[in-house]
Amino acid sequence: MKVLITGGAGFIGSNFIFHMRESHPDYDLICVDKLTYAGNLETLASVINDPKFTFIKADIADRKGIYEIFEAHHPDVVVNFAAESHVDRSIENPSVFLETNVMGTQVLLDACRTYGIQRYHQVSTDEVYGDLPLDRPDLFFTEQTPLHTSSPYSASKASADLLCNAYQRTYGMPITISRCSNNYGPYQFPEKLIPLMIANALADKPLPVYGEGINVRDWLYVEDHCRAIDLILEHGKVGQVYNIGGHNEMRNIDIVKKILAILGKTESLITYVTDRKGHDMRYAIDPTFIHQELGWLPETKFADGIEKTVHWYLENHGWWKNIINGEYQNYYERMYRNR
Ligand code: NAD
Ligand code: TYD
Repeated sequence: MKVLITGGAGFIGSNFIFHMRESHPDYDLICVDKLTYAGNLETLASVINDPKFTFIKADIADRKGIYEIFEAHHPDVVVNFAAESHVDRSIENPSVFLETNVMGTQVLLDACRTYGIQRYHQVSTDEVYGDLPLDRPDLFFTEQTPLHTSSPYSASKASADLLCNAYQRTYGMPITISRCSNNYGPYQFPEKLIPLMIANALADKPLPVYGEGINVRDWLYVEDHCRAIDLILEHGKVGQVYNIGGHNEMRNIDIVKKILAILGKTESLITYVTDRKGHDMRYAIDPTFIHQELGWLPETKFADGIEKTVHWYLENHGWWKNIINGEYQNYYERMYRNR
C-alpha cells in the first residue's frame, strides 16, 4: 500500500506519518510538502532515511508537479493535510488560503481522478460549522450541522469540503472527510495558542489573551486525531463525513492558566489584548457517529496530554527556538505590537 501524505512536514501531518510508521510498518509513505513557514524537514528527521519513506518538496496547487508525482508513484491512498492553517494569518492575507486550501485540493482531486485512487481523505476542521453560543452548552456540531463559516481560513476549508462532496457525487470518487476539533501536542508551530503560550511563558514574556479569554475550544491530543484518520482509511464509508472530538471544551484563559501552573510561572504574565476580528465563540464536536461506526474514542485525557505537551516543548527547545528566532519574529511583531 502506497499512502501519499500532503502537508506531512507540518504539525498533524508529521504526527500522522509517525503514527502510520508504527501502525502499518509495511506501507510505503510518500510525503509531499511545500515547506512553507509552517513546514519543517527537521521534524521528519526520524523517518527521512527510512527506505519505506519518501519526501518530495512540492506545492499541491502546482498541477504539473503533482501530476508528475502521481505518474511516478501511483499512490493507492491520498491523505490531504496540506493547508494554510492559521486563522490570524487568513485575516491578514486570505489569498494564499484560497490558493492552497481550495485550488490545491482541486488539483489533488483531479490527479486522483486522472490516475485512479482507492481512497482520497480530506482532513478538514470543525471550524467549517462556524461557532456556537456560549450560553447554549446543550448544542454540539454533528455531521448534519450546516456549514456556516466565519474566517477566510474556515471559508477556504469549507470550500474544499464542498469540492470533495462534488467530486464524490459527480465522478463517484472514493472520498472521505474528517472534521476535527483543535489539536495540541508535539511539533505544533508556535503561532498557535498552546505552543505560543508555552514559549512566551518560558521567556517571561506577556501571554497575549484575545478579548476576555472566554472563547471555548474543544481540545484533542494529536495522536487521537491520527488514530481516527487511520481508522477512517481502514473502515470508513465512502462519501461520509466524520466529526472527531473528545468533549474536552475549555476556555482559552483556563488553558493559559494551566500552562503557567505546569511551568510554575506567575499569572501576572497574562495580558489581555484586542480581540481577533470575527472571533468564533465556541467549538464543540459531538463525536457520537465516529464512536458508533468505528469504535473510536480519545485515549489521552487533557490533564495528561497538556503535561506531555509542555514537557515536549521543554525537552525540544532546539526545534522551536530555531523557528522563533527566524521569520517568526517579524510575524510576531506584526501581529502583536500595539495590539
Ligand atoms: P500546519 O500549518 O502545522 O502544517 C501545514 C503543512 O502544510 C506545512 O508542512 C506546510 O508546509 C504544508 N503546506 C502548506 N501549503 C502547502 C502547499 N501549497 N503545498 C504543499 N504543502 C503545503 O497545519 P496543521 O495544524 O498540521 O493542520 C493540518 C491540517 O489539519 C490542515 O488541513 C488543517 O486545516 C487541519 N486541521 C488542523 C487542526 C489544528 O488544530 N491544528 C484541527 C482540525 C483540522
Ligand atoms: P488558535 O490556536 O489560533 O486556534 P483556532 O483559532 O483555530 O481555534 O487559537 C485558539 C484560541 O486561542 C482562539 O480562541 C484564539 C485564542 N488565542 C489567543 O487568545 N491568543 C493568541 O495569541 C492566539 C494565537 C490564540
